Amino acid sequence: MTLMTEREQAQLTYRDQTFALPVLEGSEGEVAIDIGKLRRDTGLITLDPGFVNTGSCSSAITFIDGEKGILRYRGYPIEDLAEHSSFLEVAWLLLFGELPSTEELEAFDEDITRHSMLHEDFKRLFAAFPKDAHPMPTLASALGALSTFYEEPRSEKQIRQGIVRLIAKMPTMAAYAYKHSIGQPTIYPRNDLGYASNFLHMMFATPCEEYEVDPVVARALDLLLILHADHEQNCSTSTVRLVGSSQAHLFASIAAGVLALWGPLHGGANQKVIEMLEDIAAGGGSAKEFLEKAKSKDDTTRLMGFGHRVYKSYDPRAKILKQACQDVLSRMGGNSQLLDIAMELESITLEDDYFISRKLYPNVDFYSGVIYKAIGIPVPMFTVMFALGRLPGWIAQWLEMRNSPEFRIGRPRQVYIGATERRLS
Ligand code: ACO
Repeated sequence: MTLMTEREQAQLTYRDQTFALPVLEGSEGEVAIDIGKLRRDTGLITLDPGFVNTGSCSSAITFIDGEKGILRYRGYPIEDLAEHSSFLEVAWLLLFGELPSTEELEAFDEDITRHSMLHEDFKRLFAAFPKDAHPMPTLASALGALSTFYEEPRSEKQIRQGIVRLIAKMPTMAAYAYKHSIGQPTIYPRNDLGYASNFLHMMFATPCEEYEVDPVVARALDLLLILHADHEQNCSTSTVRLVGSSQAHLFASIAAGVLALWGPLHGGANQKVIEMLEDIAAGGGSAKEFLEKAKSKDDTTRLMGFGHRVYKSYDPRAKILKQACQDVLSRMGGNSQLLDIAMELESITLEDDYFISRKLYPNVDFYSGVIYKAIGIPVPMFTVMFALGRLPGWIAQWLEMRNSPEFRIGRPRQVYIGATERRLS
């Protein structure tokens, strides 16, 4: 990894004094003012609620150009990876920086396959949750619990094994969480199935009946996992880095990422999108009426699956997913009503000044739910699917942080606005 290069200096003038701040440049021309010594030299800190302008690290994993709608993992365009790669291949790329050779991929696949079973005692953990528990906190709890079964990975070899365990066991935990919620017995993984197919088998087979994996469904799921695999310093990834920066257990850092992803402004939006589309359908399908509510300042309704902190043009993942929705629905012969409503919403927004002026376009969550629904994934599991996809990205970011010469515990500052000193007597 090449570090940022120093380009020039920025001048900050404050109370008649001028301070020089280094300006650093990344490999795609992004420039950043380095304020690492600002407080030491000037007594000032910067204030940036929501981290709108704050870079928390330099990273060589994922590049996004939000103005142009570009997303690349390790330099490879998302469109190429979506068309030519498998999820495990992309996971390797994110984790280790290069695409795997055929032998490396086979060995990785085999390793993942051989570690997918959970300790039998795990079943008791799932049994302790209420039946109507959302699977996201159940999954996060299971990940936390995984750190009690395996000691903290410290050496390179242990970390490698920890990574394999996480990627191998997360689909099993996710499927166990679902099976518990519907009162069915858990289904063991099968070593003769690929990653996506095995997950579908654990979700939908029962002890009474095998589940025939449809290759169209398995490929659609693999594509979804690829598209969600990393997205640089978003809310959940920053959470993984922040928790990991205290040198907490890898599995605990990932559990924290799952919980951050759950929120409706982040990964939880995919569930909210489908609920929104279903509500519109149930109310007679008026997309226009719904959009008026989403635009109104007096209404908290938002058009879920729209808008993004970084993308100020069409999210490239949404473009791929829109096409995939059409393909999956036409090949599986599913009901296209929700897709029709989604496309109608989108086409109205493209002509509407509210959305145009704010640069609000479909994000990854806008079309993903329609595919999940078409391939039979239950709605409460949508955000869990996002977490399965994001897992290699979280781990890659955790690894990069751990190995970085910039590594320090994450500890933002604040501007205190509370009471000044007061005494009790
Ligand atoms: N519907 C209606 N208006 C919106 C929407 C939306 N989905 N998104 C943003 N706006 C409006 C805001 O009201 C605001 O308008 P104003 O300037 O008149 O006050 C303006 O656009 C800017 O919005 P912010 O909330 O300031 O933008 P921010 O970058 O903080 O938030 C976010 C981005 C959270 C994604 C936002 O667009 C949103 O809530 N979208 C809906 C939820 C969603 O789809 N989340 C998934 C994001 S992708 C991901 O995390 C995987």
